[in-house]
Amino acid sequence: MNFELTDEQEMLRKMVREFAENEVAPSAAERDENERFDRGIFDQMAELGLTGIPWPEEYGGIGSNYMSYVIAVEELSRVCASTGVTLSAHVSLASWPIYQYGTEEQKHTFLKRLATGESLGAYALSEPSAGSDVVSMLTTAKDDGDSYVLNGNKVWITNGGVADIYIVFAKTDADQRHKGITAFIVEKGTEGFSFGKKEKKLGIRSSPTTELIFENCRIPKENRLGQEGEGFKIAMTTLDGGRNGIAAQALGIAQGALDAATAYAKERVQFGKPIAENQGISFKLADMATEVEAARLLTYQAAWLESEGLPYGKASAMSKLFAGDAAMRITVEAVQVFGGYGYTKDYPVERYMRDAKITQIYEGTNEIQRLVIGRMLTK
Ligand code: CAA
Ligand code: FAD
Repeated sequence: MNFELTDEQEMLRKMVREFAENEVAPSAAERDENERFDRGIFDQMAELGLTGIPWPEEYGGIGSNYMSYVIAVEELSRVCASTGVTLSAHVSLASWPIYQYGTEEQKHTFLKRLATGESLGAYALSEPSAGSDVVSMLTTAKDDGDSYVLNGNKVWITNGGVADIYIVFAKTDADQRHKGITAFIVEKGTEGFSFGKKEKKLGIRSSPTTELIFENCRIPKENRLGQEGEGFKIAMTTLDGGRNGIAAQALGIAQGALDAATAYAKERVQFGKPIAENQGISFKLADMATEVEAARLLTYQAAWLESEGLPYGKASAMSKLFAGDAAMRITVEAVQVFGGYGYTKDYPVERYMRDAKITQIYEGTNEIQRLVIGRMLTK
């Protein structure tokens, strides 16, 4: 494995960091406070090519790879985890399954719109009674001539309400368990498709999380993604890669918290010297930095495997598990380094701590990552 980033990847990191610091960071606290999603930031990401990083140019992408993609999610999340997940859900959850399983026509219409950023994407798997246990979903899709009729509710959908294209999973055959699930591409504005509750959240508050409602929603057959009954496989293989996007998000949050804590420890004077000169603080920073690097190596390893076309499911579950847990520990310590000031909204570390928590929960809780890794080790 070659750990050296290419010139292209170094340039991309520099470009995304400048964009993140100049265009995303200044409004991050305000958007968090007001739970405000900013489509303008997504449009700017599209102008920079970030919305289609891994896809070939013929489908509207910039022809780069997954390593570049995780670097972009990391750099965005270093200043704003909500912006990081907007891109992660758009690229790895909404666009990837179309690239992997779509017909040429679907790629030229839907993937192209997603890659260029003309449209924003979302991925709708979870339901009120089917979170970790995906197979117990209740949403149905009934075959009706040249269309399917969708009925049911999806919850917790990132980019829900603001996205234009949704990958939706529904049961076409309730008796077949995981073999009875099918995937569909559903456009906002389709009759019978509406939005319900918008969640009020602890963190990633400028990323909308919304319920989707399907009431006799008619989807043309050409919008079925993959074959009937192939939906569970599509959902799981999409998550194999998506989880590394969340690892990159966690890594970015952790790096942001470490950078803030290090700078503050050098500036804050107590007992006549910077607090960083106390071993109690410098050892904390040393442990945080070591965990950030370990998370980075696991995340880049999974991205490298995917870029090389090698199996990456286990590596991706491991990177998400480790980086998510590390981000939680590191952000709690960052608040501690700031003392009382860390507990206020005058500094970004309390936001990082609130944002870190979700990386242990979505795209499969970290208990589910352990289950996935354990099954792969023992099967
Ligand atoms: N790739 C290919 N096939 C897979 C697979 C994978 N990754 N995982 C499972 N399968 C196959 C199995 O091999 C099995 O195949 P056979 O029929 O040939 O035996 C079949 O699928 C059924 O698998 P399981 O028996 O393992 O299924 P299960 O019901 O026990 O569930 C699970 C497995 C891993 C727990 C799964 O339900 C899961 O991943 N749950 C978590 C859900 C999740 O991550 N949701 C995230 C929503 S998106 C999100 O949150 C968005 C966001 O962050 C922004
Ligand atoms: P449950 O499955 O009810 O789990 C509750 C607890 O039990 C957890 O601690 C879990 O780890 C544990 N548990 C469950 N089963 C086991 C087991 N077998 N072994 C050990 N422990 C277990 N979903 C989407 O489809 N698309 C999205 O875009 C999306 N975005 C989200 C954004 C946010 C902000 C949030 C909060 C959620 C989002 N989700 C999305 C849903 C997310 O993936 C689920 O919340 C997650 O998979 C867990 O499901 P649950 O909340 O129903 O918890």
